[in-house]
Amino acid sequence: MEIKIQKDYSELSSTVADIVKHQIQRKPNSRLILPTGSTPIGLYKELVNRKLNWKKVETFNLDEYLDNTIWEQSYRYFMDENLFKHINIDDDNIYFPGDTAIWPEMSYGENADLCILGIGTNGHIAFNEPGSSFDSETRVVDLDEQTIEDNSRFFDSVDDVPKQAITMGLKTIMKSKKIVLIANGVHKYKILNVAMNGGVTEKVPASILQKHNNVEVFYCD
Ligand code: PGA
Repeated sequence: MEIKIQKDYSELSSTVADIVKHQIQRKPNSRLILPTGSTPIGLYKELVNRKLNWKKVETFNLDEYLDNTIWEQSYRYFMDENLFKHINIDDDNIYFPGDTAIWPEMSYGENADLCILGIGTNGHIAFNEPGSSFDSETRVVDLDEQTIEDNSRFFDSVDDVPKQAITMGLKTIMKSKKIVLIANGVHKYKILNVAMNGGVTEKVPASILQKHNNVEVFYCD
C-alpha cells in the first residue's frame, strides 16, 4: 500500500483537514470516526480554523479509558478541548463508546462515511491491541504493556495509566466507507510499513486495512 509522505506535520495536518472538510461539505450529516492522541492535534487545529458547519455531523470516538479517575486524561476531555468546544457541533451528535445505556453496542460507529485513525507503535488501531480478532466489535479490552508505556507520557507516572479501555472493534472500523490513517515520527515508520506492506495478521491489527478498498495513509517524520 502507498504511504503518502508529507513534508512536515503541518502539511500532514492540513492535507487530512482538507479531506474532512470536503466530506462535510459534500454530506453535511456525515458520520465521522475520530481518534485521540498526539498525532491528530494539528488536524483538529486546522479543522477549527476552517470554520466548517458541524451542525448535522455525527462523531464517534474510537475509544475511551475505563476506570480513569482523572477527568483531564479522558478522551472526552481531549476532544472537548481540541475540537468540540471550538465548533458548532450539537452535543447530542457526539458519541463515545460505552456512553449509551444499550449494551453491547453492536452498531456503535458502524457505516461511517469517514474514519480517521492513528497507529500505535505496536500496530494497534484504536485500542485493538495485537491479537485482536479481525471480527471484533465494540468491547472492553486490557491495554498492552507497550501501550501503557507509550501513553505514560501523558500521565505523572506509568502507574496512573488506566489498564483497561473500551474500544471500537476492527470489524466496525472496516465498515467505514473511507479510512485515513495518519502517523507522525520516525518511531512510527517501521510499524507503519510492516502494517501496510507486510502480511495481514492479527498480530499487527492495522494490517487489516490492506483489505479495505478506500484507505489513504499519510506519514511525516
Ligand atoms: P499517538 O497515538 O497519536 O499519540 O502517537 C496513536 C495511537 O496510539 O493510536
